[in-house]
This record gives sequence, structure tokens and C-alpha cells, in this order.
Amino acid sequence: MNILLLLAIVHRCIAVEPPQPFDFVEDAIVKYVNHSVDPCDNFYRHVCSFDSPNDIAVAALKEVYNYIEDTQKNSLWNHLDIVNSFKSFESRKKLLSSTEATNDFLIESVKTICEKKDMDSVHALLSGINKLESRLKNETVKKPRSKRKTDKAGCNSLTETFRQVLTEKSKDHVITAWELISNFHEAATSYVNTANSINAHLEVDVRLGIEKTRDMVEEMLKTAETYIEVCCHNVYKKSLYFQKTPWVKKQNVVSQVKNITSQLRIQDNFGKNFQIVTDLLFTYEKVFLNCKSKFSVGENSDLLCYILVASSSILTKGKGHFTTENNAYNDHPSVSFGYPYYYASQYGIEQATKLGYTGVAVGHEIGHTFFDEHDKLQYLPYFSKEVEDCVQNQYNATCMEFKEHSCATTNDFLDENGADIFGLHLAYEHLKSYYGERLRTKIDRLKMTYEQLFFYAHAIDFCSGTLSFVDKKKNGKYEEHSANNVRVNVIVQHPEFKKAFNCSADSRMMKSATKQCYIYGSKAPKTLKKINN
Ligand SMILES: *[C@@H]1O[C@H](CO)[C@@H](O)[C@H](O)[C@H]1NC(C)=O
Ligand SMILES: *[C@@H]1O[C@H](CO)[C@@H](O)[C@H](O)[C@H]1NC(C)=O
Ligand SMILES: *[C@@H]1O[C@H](CO)[C@@H](O)[C@H](O)[C@H]1NC(C)=O
Ligand SMILES: *[C@@H]1O[C@H](CO)[C@@H](O)[C@H](O)[C@H]1NC(C)=O
Ligand SMILES: *[C@@H]1O[C@H](CO)[C@@H](O)[C@H](O)[C@H]1NC(C)=O
Ligand SMILES: [Zn+2]
Repeated sequence: MNILLLLAIVHRCIAVEPPQPFDFVEDAIVKYVNHSVDPCDNFYRHVCSFDSPNDIAVAALKEVYNYIEDTQKNSLWNHLDIVNSFKSFESRKKLLSSTEATNDFLIESVKTICEKKDMDSVHALLSGINKLESRLKNETVKKPRSKRKTDKAGCNSLTETFRQVLTEKSKDHVITAWELISNFHEAATSYVNTANSINAHLEVDVRLGIEKTRDMVEEMLKTAETYIEVCCHNVYKKSLYFQKTPWVKKQNVVSQVKNITSQLRIQDNFGKNFQIVTDLLFTYEKVFLNCKSKFSVGENSDLLCYILVASSSILTKGKGHFTTENNAYNDHPSVSFGYPYYYASQYGIEQATKLGYTGVAVGHEIGHTFFDEHDKLQYLPYFSKEVEDCVQNQYNATCMEFKEHSCATTNDFLDENGADIFGLHLAYEHLKSYYGERLRTKIDRLKMTYEQLFFYAHAIDFCSGTLSFVDKKKNGKYEEHSANNVRVNVIVQHPEFKKAFNCSADSRMMKSATKQCYIYGSKAPKTLKKINN
């Protein structure tokens, strides 16, 4: 047998197997910790050497992503005309540089169809033009226009109608035909991305990780609710009527806060969403292809059909957050997590790693619902300004002490900073209850305790070999997340960090620790300004 052919077969066999799963967080800890830096001096640069990539998860899972991309090359949803033909329209749009020329181009194709004297097509066209008009004017579809003849006069009149729809006093139009096409393309592309992303979760299977993460969300949410709960069990209500957070009790807002927080759910309806996006994509693809075959008048018909499909489409950009990115979201009431978090909770060896990596992210997203700005309330009926000041003080102190390229502590960062502090504390509570006495037991393999591993796994999520920085957006405001090294080094806020690493009080890390912030719990500040309602 030809040796090259044999190699090719062997190669193919290897390529169809997904990469061997591994604990990429633990792997990165072993790889990137810089033992020349004392964890009590600068924890971030101790964990994250300058050799670390900009995004550890994405770098570590590169082969996984390549494999997924490879297997998706042949997926039907990656070969749809309704997505791929847009490029040729874009180039044609450049050829027809003015709107007028584009309109003329479209009008010409309508005229051609009409003059072919196929009544069916003409009626379909009429109803399409009707929908288009409604869409451009953002009105509900009106009664169909009266049937027209396909004689020369009839066609002229139809063409005239179409010209009016496309060009009519744009005052009536909330959108142009090209914007309609372009929006449709963006939406369809986001549906394809969603299909690919959901499929990725199956190709290198993280379904167990999704389940584990959902359990984590539910358990942490339960814990977070005990912070505000009046009592734990109905049976004990009389004897144990205690209130954990004074400011919540004081304002008598327990039920309101609980109502809001109990709405939180993880977005894990992958199957349903896959079905929705692929059903819609294939439906519009079919309509598009049917239209093209009906109106087959050469290259013009595809653009005309695209507009007609776009005008009857209900696609809107952004179908949930199903993503392979290393990111997580709180679109209250749903929280969602990118592929790496599920991967980590499925293939993590130690629970401490899973809680430090995925658990802190879960806590952070839950934290977005539990932490509000007192003068810009989003969900909660009240929030404490003192808590905010406390959090910002810590971030400012850490920024002052550890600034790399840049850092800042303005109100732009408040929500994210609060969610960070909240999330770390919440995840730590679960670490404590999981390990109990074993918290400070050393893991021989890693030469560190479970508690230390938790802090390491958390830091790994923010590692970058480049100097930490803050970004400004186009509107001049800061991008809301504090600099990576600041986000990690604020862990000195956590009273157990000092013990975990046996830091002396005069270490750099400990000197940057400010007053302990209690967001919720019996020690949380009592004063609270009532804002609205
Ligand atoms: C490790 O830390 C030492 C001491 O700060 C530093 O000089 C060195 O550049 C670091 N190495 C890497 C790879 O980050
Ligand atoms: C179209 O109308 C709906 C309500 O009928 C409205 O919510 C929407 O904002 C309008 N769209 C535009 C672009 O004006
Ligand atoms: C909970 O909040 C929703 C709105 O978010 C409201 O419609 C509902 O009445 C509230 N329920 C209670 C028991 O307060
Ligand atoms: C941050 O801390 C520095 C030094 O303590 C102080 O001068 C500055 O006003 C603080 N900035 C903010 C925004 O709190
Ligand atoms: C903690 O550090 C002190 C000195 O700062 C040292 O005496 C002690 O042995 C250390 N404890 C542990 C458990 O490493
Ligand atoms: Zn956030």
C-alpha cells in the first residue's frame, strides 16, 4: 500500500478524535506561576508570569477549538445562501454606488419578472412588496394591493409602486432597504454563531460541566439568599426570626429583594435554542431558494429575493449568550457562561479549582443582581452607599500600590468591582463548606493547600503576559472592568487570604488591604439612603 495513502488514512483517524480533555486551570497554574515572586508581595505577578498568554483558557483550548471548527466545516448551517450571498451583494452595492442606482437595479428586476407574464410570480411579488413597504414604514401589513394585470400598463404600474416603496419620502421610513438587508444579515450571522457555539458544547462534550455549573448557580443563589432571608425554615419562623442584613431589614424590603434575586436562572436551554435558531435559519433559507427559483431572472433575482426575505423575517440580533468565548453574562434574570467555564467544571480535578475558576465567575454574575448603584438602581429597591465606598476604597488602594500600565477607580467600575468582591466571598463560602477541616490540607501533587488552589484558580482567569491596563470606550467612559492585576490583587479584601499564604502584616499585599467590606450579612452597614419609590 502506498505509504502516503496509509499516512493520510491514519491522519484522518487521528483527526476525528477530539483532543484528550485535561484540567487546563491546574495545568496553567503549574506552567505560569513565577516562583521568584512572593505571593504576599504581588499575588497577580506570582500567579501570572510574563510568559502567560493573554487569555489562558483560549490558549489552552486552542486544539479543542480547532477540532470543533474542523467538525463544523460541513454543517449545513455554515453553508446557507442567506448568509453567504450577502458578500456578493456588498460588492454589488459598491458597484451600484448610489441608492438610486441600487433601486433602479431592483426595479428593473421587478419589471423583468412582471413582463414574463407569470401571474403567480406577480402576485407573490405584490405581496412581497407589500411586506417590504410595511417593514420600511414599521407598520403592520396592510390589505394586499389590488390585483394587477401583467400587460405593459400593468407592469409599469407595478414597477411604479415598487419605486415608490423604495424611494418614497423617507420621512415615512424608519429604515432603508439596505439597512434592512444588512440587519437581516447580521441577525442571520448571529444565529449561525449561536448554532456553532451550541454545537461546540456537544462536539467536545461539556454537558456534564453545564449541569455542574447549573448546580453551582443554584447552590450559590441559595446561599446568597440566606444573606437577606428573614428565616431559614418556616417551622422555625417564630423562634429564629433573625435578620441577617440590617439595611435590608431596616427598609423592610426583604420580599422585594427576594423577588428579584429569586428570578435568577442559568441560561442552559441549549437544545431548545439550537432548535429555534436552526429552524429559523432553514426556514428563511427555503423561502430564499424558493423565491430565487420562482423569479429566476438571472443575477438580479437573488438580491430582490434577499430583500423580500429580510422584510418578512423576525430574526433579531443576539439570540441569547451561547458562546465559546471566555466570558460570562448577567442579562437579568438569566446568567450565562462561556464554554471554558463549563469545560473547567467538567474536567477540573479538584473542587477547589472548579470553585476558584468557575465558582467565582458564577458568584460574580449572581453578584450583578445583588450589587446595585445606590443612585442608579437597576434591580434592587435600595442599595448602600457605604458599601460602595468601601469597595471602591479597596480598588483604589490596590490600583495605587500595583499599577502596571494603567488602572483607575471611577464610578464606571463600581458594578463590576462590587460583583467581583461579592463573587469571591460567595465562592469561598462554598469552598469552606465543601472542604471543612481539610481546607488547609496540602495537595502533594501541587505542593499547595486546597485553599491556596482556590485563590490560584481564581487568579488564572485574569492572567496575561502583558501589563494590566484599563480601556476607554468611544464615549469617553471606562470599559467597566478594572485592570486584571487589580481584579486579582483585591483578594486581600478576603480575610482568609492572609492566612492562606501566611502573609505578614507588612507585606505589600497586606499593606494594600483596606477596611473589610461587608456587602450583606449582619456586619453590613446600617445606613442606607432611600432613593425612589
Ligand atoms: C519572574 O519574576 C521575576 C522577579 O520579579 C522577574 O524578574 C521575571 O521577569 C519574572 N519572570 C517571568 C517569566 O515573568
Ligand atoms: C417599530 O414599531 C415598534 C412598535 O410598534 C417599536 O417598538 C419599534 O421601536 C419601531 N422600530 C423603529 C425602528 O422605529
Ligand atoms: C415580583 O416582581 C415582579 C416584577 O419583576 C412583579 O410583577 C411581581 O408582582 C412581584 N411579586 C411580588 C410577590 O412582589
Ligand atoms: C485613591 O487613593 C489616593 C491615595 O490614598 C487618594 O489620593 C485618592 O484621592 C483616591 N482616589 C479615589 C478615587 O478614591
Ligand atoms: C508563617 O510565617 C511566620 C513568619 O512570618 C513563620 O514563623 C511561620 O512558621 C509561618 N507559618 C507557616 C505555616 O508557614
Ligand atoms: Zn461583570
